[in-house]
Amino acid sequence: MLILEISDVKKRYLAQGQEVMALAGVSLTLAPGEFVSLVGRSGCGKSTLLHLAGAMDFPSEGTVSIDGQQTTSLDDAALTTLRRRKVGFIFQNFQLLPTLSVVENVELPLLLAGEPQERTRSLEALAWVELSDYGNRMPHQLSGGQMQRVAIARALVHRPKLLLADEPTGNLDTTTGDRILDLLRRAAKDFNAAVLMATHSVESGRVTDRTIAMLDGRIR
Ligand SMILES: Nc1ncnc2c1ncn2[C@@H]1O[C@H](COP(=O)(O)OP(=O)(O)O)[C@@H](O)[C@H]1O
Ligand SMILES: [Mg+2]
Repeated sequence: MLILEISDVKKRYLAQGQEVMALAGVSLTLAPGEFVSLVGRSGCGKSTLLHLAGAMDFPSEGTVSIDGQQTTSLDDAALTTLRRRKVGFIFQNFQLLPTLSVVENVELPLLLAGEPQERTRSLEALAWVELSDYGNRMPHQLSGGQMQRVAIARALVHRPKLLLADEPTGNLDTTTGDRILDLLRRAAKDFNAAVLMATHSVESGRVTDRTIAMLDGRIR
């Protein structure tokens, strides 16, 4: 069973009356437990592809299926459920909510999904990223690497089958970034998640099971 199936996807944007072909026919699949990198220079379409893969946006042509469900066939309620149950997303700039404590940030996806035992499960997720003692801190009291580990805990707290990471080490120094890459690899192993990571760093791309190189909206 494939977790992600992207089939001949095109994505056009209209920017100031000009058409931009962000994706020009991309196909890829991800199986459970795979850690895959999407490598290419800025503007080649990595973020666009990740947003389609997470059902946060839709292709102009072609199809995206997440755990067997084609995103364009679902209504808004079904899409929300799909994203909340099956997808975790990690951003370059962490995107923690500044007015919530660390543990409150992590449990938010469970609260939104109406899932039980949110505090216990978020503390487990924090332990998994080795931040058990930081639950009551506020985000601004953490280092960048710690913020990204909290964001990973939040992305994994509901045990998604698909974990998407957009330049997750882009704001971090190499040593701290390596620790984040290690956690993403462990997420694939420990939870059997399919992990798709966009990066413009060829070195980050080297640590994954498979590397997909992109250029100008296509796979090379
Ligand atoms: N919302 C948008 N509206 C218009 N153009 C966009 C939008 N998002 C991305 N693009 C364009 O699509 C192309 C791919 O962008 P993106 O997916 O962000 O690339 P990457 O993440 O690899 O840097 C770029 O030319 C970018 O300017
Ligand atoms: Mg990007």
